[in-house]
Amino acid sequence: MNIAIIGTGYVGLVSGACLSKLGHNILCLDINKKVIQKLKKGRAPFYEPGLSELLASSTQQDKIHFTTSYKLATKSDAIFICVDTPQDKNGNPDLSSLNEVLASILRNAKKDLTIILKSTVPVGTNEYVNNYFKLKSDLSFAVISNPEFLREGSAIKDFMNPDRIILGLEGPRSKRVMQEIYATFIDQKYKIFYMKPESAELTKYAANSFLATKISFINKISHLSDAVGADIEEVKRGIGSDLRIGSSFLDAGLGYGGSCFPKDIKALIEMEKKFNIKHSIVSTVEKVNDNQLEYFIAKIHHFFKGQDTTKCALLIWGLAFKPNTDDVRDSLAIKLIKNIAPQFQHLYAYDALASKNASLALAEIDNITFIKKKYKNIARTHALIICTESQEFTRPNLCEVNKLKHQAIFDGRNILTKQKKKLKTQGISYFGIGQS
Ligand code: UGA
Repeated sequence: MNIAIIGTGYVGLVSGACLSKLGHNILCLDINKKVIQKLKKGRAPFYEPGLSELLASSTQQDKIHFTTSYKLATKSDAIFICVDTPQDKNGNPDLSSLNEVLASILRNAKKDLTIILKSTVPVGTNEYVNNYFKLKSDLSFAVISNPEFLREGSAIKDFMNPDRIILGLEGPRSKRVMQEIYATFIDQKYKIFYMKPESAELTKYAANSFLATKISFINKISHLSDAVGADIEEVKRGIGSDLRIGSSFLDAGLGYGGSCFPKDIKALIEMEKKFNIKHSIVSTVEKVNDNQLEYFIAKIHHFFKGQDTTKCALLIWGLAFKPNTDDVRDSLAIKLIKNIAPQFQHLYAYDALASKNASLALAEIDNITFIKKKYKNIARTHALIICTESQEFTRPNLCEVNKLKHQAIFDGRNILTKQKKKLKTQGISYFGIGQS
């Protein structure tokens, strides 16, 4: 099928690349000319494992093209809308990009079209888009909600092996189009759920909020774990092995960050307020998450108590909001650095992928150096702080770590818990979360 993808961010570009792999002819549109030029030269505008390779092979097979032209895009049979819906000042999703897309489609469309909403949008947006075209056009538009469940860092794998595909649609025409788009997944017997558009839209918010709830839950239990002398990793194993609970998204740490959870939780809270839903669980989830970084930073301050920290340096590993990405949006590492930099003499920061974006996000911090090798200047620093669970941090070279002036590790993702004893025998103090 000829499919246009509007928006070449993480969701749009990954979806376009994967749909081209499924055999469709893809036209990716973005109004950002620079991004489109870059893509035409074969360069992805951000890092996502496997994406550059997939784009290269689809370009070679003539299955994917890039444009800024709505005239071309509206010649397709179906259009996926994948533009961002950032948080506005009231905590609601800002739909101005979506509205611009709708107006551009309306101006250029010359035939009936299927519009698929992949952007995360408030419940009721499908109906709004439907009415928009009904009122303003004589053409027939089928509007479908198809939320995405891609995780940055494993987005291609998630797209090609979905736990489920959610389709909010009405009528046989919409169903037929989506069955053609996802024919490969239907053949491979992946789960596809057809539902009301409102249910599809709410499923997206409910899924992200539930995952965030698991994270805040385990983080709160980690405080209790610290207080009573338990080990949160043992507790996690204990509860996670219950199939009704499951162990995923039960990793205690600095809390959740990124461009999705914080924004979607805020949006759900606003939806609850709008409909006067009392006793919000997610608003507590948000508060717990906001507090988790302070909880961790308090551990660092406690360790340095009585010392003149303006003469001490720190080494920070992991700057993105999670491993395998260069995305620093709402990254806990960035927040941590902004918080502690004024109290310390100097910070050395390392991330194999995200240093460039981090240096832009931290432009106002003048006592930080971004290092290209993770042990560089370690002997000049007093303690190591780990902010992401990147694979390369899981087996540190203890000879190098021993060079830290205070031989102390603050593990914000509990990735070194299994090596606690070894660290102790080497004289290294270890501070995780929920492992007093
Ligand atoms: C999340 C969802 O997992 C995707 O299903 C969804 O499609 C996406 O948002 C979206 O709405 O676009 P993502 O934000 O890429 O994906 O990353 P996650 O792997 O979910 O991690 C989010 C945050 O939670 C990270 O900061 C991570 O470090 C943190 N986290 C995750 C924990 O603190 N503990 C855990 O056990 C798991």
